[in-house]
Amino acid sequence: FPLKAYNTFGVPAFAAQFIEIESEEALIHFFGSRRDVTQRPFLVLGGGSNVLFTKDFDGLVIRIAIPGINHRISDTEVWVTAGAGVIWNDLVWYCVNRNFAGIENMALIPGTVGAAPVQNIGAYGAELKDVFVSCRVFDTKSGGISTFTKEDCQFSYRESLFKKEAKGRYIITQVTLRLSLNPAINTSYGAIQVELAKRNITDPTIKDIAEVVSAIRTDKLPDPSTIGNSGSFFKNPIVTVQHLQQLQFTFQDINFVSYPVGESHVKLAAGWLIEQCGWKGKRVGDAGTWKNQALVLVNHKNASGSDIYNLSEQIIQDVEKKFNIRLEREVNII
Ligand code: EPU
Repeated sequence: FPLKAYNTFGVPAFAAQFIEIESEEALIHFFGSRRDVTQRPFLVLGGGSNVLFTKDFDGLVIRIAIPGINHRISDTEVWVTAGAGVIWNDLVWYCVNRNFAGIENMALIPGTVGAAPVQNIGAYGAELKDVFVSCRVFDTKSGGISTFTKEDCQFSYRESLFKKEAKGRYIITQVTLRLSLNPAINTSYGAIQVELAKRNITDPTIKDIAEVVSAIRTDKLPDPSTIGNSGSFFKNPIVTVQHLQQLQFTFQDINFVSYPVGESHVKLAAGWLIEQCGWKGKRVGDAGTWKNQALVLVNHKNASGSDIYNLSEQIIQDVEKKFNIRLEREVNII
């Protein structure tokens, strides 16, 4: 089964089997009725926006397409529940249009609702974990459904239980968020302030925020429907304050972009580090880094998954050689 249309990098790859699932019942039934399902490797895909196929997948690809959004208002808060197959940005606009605040800063993040908790998506000053209440999951080991709370999910920066010890075990079927009817507008991110000022908006609504964020993203990030990519390819590395001091001592003439993480660590901008190594906007064949954001690897047309992977390896080596920092991939490599 061809996967080219099911990964936003648009690289060619084949799966031995493919199934699309539209309800929890169908998922339970499918696993219950097919003994071989648990024997063969399987891979869960949502929007395919955080995966790089470097080879064919000799197993079953399960595409989760569970639909549906509903909400329940209580006083000044609203609980919004969405099926794992809902497009994340559709959920954002469902909420923005009803003035449910909390996810407007995450407008236009590609992918599905079910993929959002896996890497605790975040952008422009907001993170999923800030509004997350719970998710329903199918346990492929037991064949049953459970509910995981925020604590169960062990969220941290671009991390969760679903990427750690439980990798591959659970399939998220539904997500519930708690949003607010009294919006606390979050303009902490500099780029948002700049864009609001450009538009002469002094008292932004959540709709303004969603629009401004969408404009920034459209300007800075390549549209996967025209240029294959999966957003940030690497995580922003977290290093000790001492490490940064050493770097600052070695490279006296350049100013490192850094954000504090607790007392003893800082987060550096991977895109900036990559740019410093001369990789911004570069190409190796059809694999490259994006001209406006070096953290995003792109498929200019006919790159294979291995072409992109090899480029990422060269970038990792160069950044490590220059800064003694080993970048970690954020994208799931198959
Ligand atoms: N920068 C450069 N050169 C570059 C890229 C960035 O100098 O080529 C500098 C920027 O000028 C800025 C800093 O690095 O000073 C940070 O850049 P940016 O604001 O673009 O954000 P980022 O840290 O590169 C992260 C997320 C993005 C998210 C943005 C905005 C990660 C791995 N990425 O990128 O998320 O949209 O912040 O909040 O945390 C994604 O995960 O797929 C994604 C796009």
